[in-house]
Amino acid sequence: MIKNFKKNEINVSEPFLEGTIETDEKDWEFLEAKVEDFYKSNNISEETIEQFIIHNKQVKNFAIKFSEEENFNNREKEIAVLSAILHDIAKGFGEFELHGEKGGEIAEKILLEMGKSQGLAKSVKLAIIRHMGKEGYPTRISKEKYGNDFEYPQPATKVGQLVYECDILTQLTPEGFEKILHLRKTDKKNIEEDKKTASGKGITENEAALLSVLKNAEESYNLIKIKPIKKFAKELWEKIQKKYPNSFINF
Ligand SMILES: [Fe+2]
Ligand SMILES: [Fe+2]
Repeated sequence: MIKNFKKNEINVSEPFLEGTIETDEKDWEFLEAKVEDFYKSNNISEETIEQFIIHNKQVKNFAIKFSEEENFNNREKEIAVLSAILHDIAKGFGEFELHGEKGGEIAEKILLEMGKSQGLAKSVKLAIIRHMGKEGYPTRISKEKYGNDFEYPQPATKVGQLVYECDILTQLTPEGFEKILHLRKTDKKNIEEDKKTASGKGITENEAALLSVLKNAEESYNLIKIKPIKKFAKELWEKIQKKYPNSFINF
């Protein structure tokens, strides 16, 4: 399955951005509840589910805000919002590296079961498959696992790009900091990594975890391209720099 992610092996576009909208806020609420049920049925801890729900809500609200600021039509906004709600549905169990691909497939299935069109389901699926990023954390660990030429398929439309940027924008918010710190403390690999950093730099493990969160935030800030999102990210990044002394960020 994962070999499909090698460079240039996926060549699909997202051709369904036209059309009338098929969902309303009730559907969105239904889907949010569905994501929560899905987490519960996969035995994810309550604390982690709580963090995921906060994260998904944040991405959804950013998708609404920036779809409007970017003058998306209603159909484009709908695809962005549905993708935001469902983008991490496959996270927290199974292979982390595959949560985009798996999540896209699950989302497509759910939308088809709700009676939504093939076009809508496919557009959402593709945006979700393409939310993993080019240089961020998922790509880094996937390169370690699958080799250096590994690359996730990149967003192919302005809608996919917006969903991707709304997702990484959360890494610059206090809620995002809390989520990543929580996940770092529950993931074996991250715990090891923080231990190593702590002993190498002579800092505590908590400081090492915070350092990696700050690095994520800076990386996300640099990856954001869409103007209004960049402006918002800049304000957040400046707040972070004020809160944490530069000497610490550049440790
Ligand atoms: Fe994700
Ligand atoms: Fe996410």
